[in-house]
Formats: sequence, C-alpha cells, structure tokens
Amino acid sequence: MSETTKGVTVLYSAEVIAARVRARGQDIARAHEGGELVLLSVLKGSFIFAADLSRAIPQPLRIDFLGLSSYGGKTETSGVVKITQDLSRPIEGAHVLVVEDIIDTGLTMDYLLENLKTRKPASVKVCSLLEKPSRAVRKVPIDHVGFVIPDKFVVGYGLDYDEQYRNLPFIGVLDPSAARAP
Ligand code: IMP
Repeated sequence: MSETTKGVTVLYSAEVIAARVRARGQDIARAHEGGELVLLSVLKGSFIFAADLSRAIPQPLRIDFLGLSSYGGKTETSGVVKITQDLSRPIEGAHVLVVEDIIDTGLTMDYLLENLKTRKPASVKVCSLLEKPSRAVRKVPIDHVGFVIPDKFVVGYGLDYDEQYRNLPFIGVLDPSAARAP
C-alpha cells in the first residue's frame, strides 16, 4: 500500500517516526530519577504517540489521559482551552511527563502547566512529538521533542483536521485546499 492520501504530502514516514520515538523513550528513561512516573497523554492528538512512547520507556509507569480542546475544526487556534476529560487519579507527589502531539502557539501547554501546578506533582516535564517554533506566542519549556517543523498544518499519527486523518500511520502536510474543503 502506498503511503499517500489525497491532499496530504508525507513529511515523516512511519519508520522515521518509530526510530525517533524509540530514541525519545530512551532519553526519558535516562532522565527519570526514580519515584512514580505518570505519562499524561493529552487527548485526542497524542493518543498514538503516547501508546508508542510508553512502550519505548523500559520502566514501570502509569498512564493517564487529559482531554483538552482548543480547536473547533479549523487550522488556527482559538486561544480558548477547555478540559473535556479530567485525570482518573490525583498526581500529587508524582513525576509527570506530559505527552503532547504538537506545540504550536504554546497557549494550550501554557494553560495545562498552570493547571497541573495546582495539583502538587513532584515534577512536571513535557514531551512533544512536534514543535512549530515559528508560531510560538507563549514560551513553554519542552524537555523532549520528536521533530521541529516549519509553519505547515500537519496531520496523521494522531493529529487531525476536523477529526479526520488521525489514523494515517505517517505525518504529512495537509494541502491548504484540502483544509478548506467542506
Ligand atoms: P497550541 O495551543 O497553538 O500550541 O496548539 C496546540 C494544539 O493545537 C495541539 O495539541 C493540536 O491539537 C492543535 N494543532 C496545532 N497545530 C496543529 C497542526 O499542524 N495539525 C494538527 N493539529 C494542530
């Protein structure tokens, strides 16, 4: 099967992503100094990344999910962040690794880090699959990053446009004309 989908140009193949995720998993394991590790997967975009990353970290950990929404089917952030699903257990005293799909303007992560602080974790680190530094509005600390990308709208490997394309096994750039189609 060819890795192409109408309106999407491959940026990183499944193989390239897998190698990068393995490397980040090893970095995270090396950096972790002990104590309870909680991978906090930000839904929905990071669910595939978090599933692969968790299997690349060779040590005990707990996984939890936090649903955040900042986009309403468009390619620009609204700046408004809403918690759509909260954590299943407290994170007080835990070492939290936030697993995000992409940090674009940084508004979502900025909001999330402030919110997590109030829950008294032992530490909070951030691992983002992608970073678009050219679009940053808020400077947020990123401890581990998969790929730094240019200012393009990307889909696949969990990332969506209007809830489509999440299941593509690769990361691709969405053609702006496809993004405008109804
Ligand atoms: P930020 O608040 O602008 O940093 O945006 C963070 C969220 O916007 C991400 O978690 C994604 O859900 C979404 N987002 C930003 N850029 C893209 C993109 O290129 N493709 C798909 N989703 C994106």
